[in-house]
Amino acid sequence: MAFFSGRSLSIINDLNVEEQWYLYQKTRELKEGLAAGKTMEDFRIKDEDFSMYLLFLEDSTRTKESFRNAAAFHGARVNVFDSTHSSFNKKESLTDTIKMLVGYAGRSLFIIRSKQEGTCTALSESISEYAHKQKLPTPAFINAGDGKHEHPTQELLDEFTFLEKKNWDRSIIRIALVGDLFHGRTVHSKADGLRIFDEVHVDLVAPPELAMPEYYVHRMKANGFKVRIFTSIEEYLEAKEIADIWYYTRLQLERMGEKVLDKAESLRKAVTFQKKYLSKIQDGTKFYHPLPRHREYPVVPTFLDHTELNGWDEQSMNGYFTRITEIAMFGGKIGDDFKGSETAKEVFNDDFIEELEIHSSSSENKKTDMKIGIRPVENGLVIDHIGKGNTISQIWSHIDKIRRILNLNTVASHGVYKSNRTGLYKGIISLPEINDFSDTDVKKLGAIAPECTVNIIRDSKIIRKVRVHMPPRIYNFDEISCRNENCISNPELHEPIVPYFFRSNQGSSGTTGEFICKYCEKPHQFQEIWSDK
Ligand code: CP
Repeated sequence: MAFFSGRSLSIINDLNVEEQWYLYQKTRELKEGLAAGKTMEDFRIKDEDFSMYLLFLEDSTRTKESFRNAAAFHGARVNVFDSTHSSFNKKESLTDTIKMLVGYAGRSLFIIRSKQEGTCTALSESISEYAHKQKLPTPAFINAGDGKHEHPTQELLDEFTFLEKKNWDRSIIRIALVGDLFHGRTVHSKADGLRIFDEVHVDLVAPPELAMPEYYVHRMKANGFKVRIFTSIEEYLEAKEIADIWYYTRLQLERMGEKVLDKAESLRKAVTFQKKYLSKIQDGTKFYHPLPRHREYPVVPTFLDHTELNGWDEQSMNGYFTRITEIAMFGGKIGDDFKGSETAKEVFNDDFIEELEIHSSSSENKKTDMKIGIRPVENGLVIDHIGKGNTISQIWSHIDKIRRILNLNTVASHGVYKSNRTGLYKGIISLPEINDFSDTDVKKLGAIAPECTVNIIRDSKIIRKVRVHMPPRIYNFDEISCRNENCISNPELHEPIVPYFFRSNQGSSGTTGEFICKYCEKPHQFQEIWSDK
């Protein structure tokens, strides 16, 4: 079985840099071969049991048609799913729909465009499990654009185009990303996709309302990119060094509702190229755009179509070649000659409970509790150091969450006090009727109030004391959910997807302790993931 067979592509990082490079090299071989009149038989799947499902739940021209034509190149059976006349109208879930289609498809590859973010990540897991149980071939999934999250196959065709422009020199790229960087999924994929180049200089050109989300800016910096920020093309053209690759995105003001109506003209003006700027553009510069462009308000105006700046026409054609290669890889036709390394699976250290030393004469529980009027515990639990260093109201909120989520409807006392030693506030809950916590409860505690301590008390003595750190993964709790209303795991969407969060080593603002939704990758403060109800 070929190396890439059955793999899914939900985000650009599902292929590591060596794998992406393989894809670009293969696409180059294919494109040059076809241009030379070769039939490129080594790329063609030609297996009548292989089928492709095109599920476009949002409009598309380029992605859908390039995949449809790429499928024809392979002789694959193509099913174009008609979502407007499907049982979605009877409120069927996407998961149920795909389960059923997998049963009809044989060996299959699903190309899915969806407003819901993280759709392919969720489906590739849940449907693989289902297929395995039903003894069906495991389907592969390719994300053809999910909300404002990512568009990995666009990213692959974009990088392929940049490599062509640079005559396959990977040493350095200077690129300006211009337009709606907030909603544009194609520019979000660039935070990782540009890693194909050794040195990356990115200039972000967008007014504050359309600025790149902090999360992606931080990711670019963490990837070692040099990032500069400008609020308009006019401002950018005053800079010392201007990129020779400009990547525009369409303004998606329709997603911003009424709040930008009165600003629409100035937002457009900030990122629309004008004739007067031409003299400031260096020779050899190319403009790119994932397209479509707005026919009334194009950020790349049509007077540029017949100039040397036009890189977008070649770029859109490259979508056909890169997608033939993607199908050949994930359909198992090519990949045996891949010489790079596989991405190592991330290993999680679930060791988030730290045993603390107990001093033999310890009656600290009793003393401390009495100091603030908390009832002393002879036998039971004391949760201490809750929200240490937070504000008083934040600590009360932690206490409330702990009691509510851990269902501590028992005799208890609690309070917020100030440490004499550090001057910091912290919370305490004293639970005389609780004798132990389950591992699940301790994990919840670590996620709600990381760095708190749990003291188990017998005969007024602390017999065990642990500090609970924030766990690296949180899942399988009824009380957690992703706050992104467009995330496939959001409970309002009623898909049978288990909410799942990873702790980020570095948060979107460079701090530790954020939780990233596994599906849509939205960062959350740890308090946010817990339901308020
Ligand atoms: N670039 C792109 O995704 O275009 P479509 O919306 O036409 O597929």
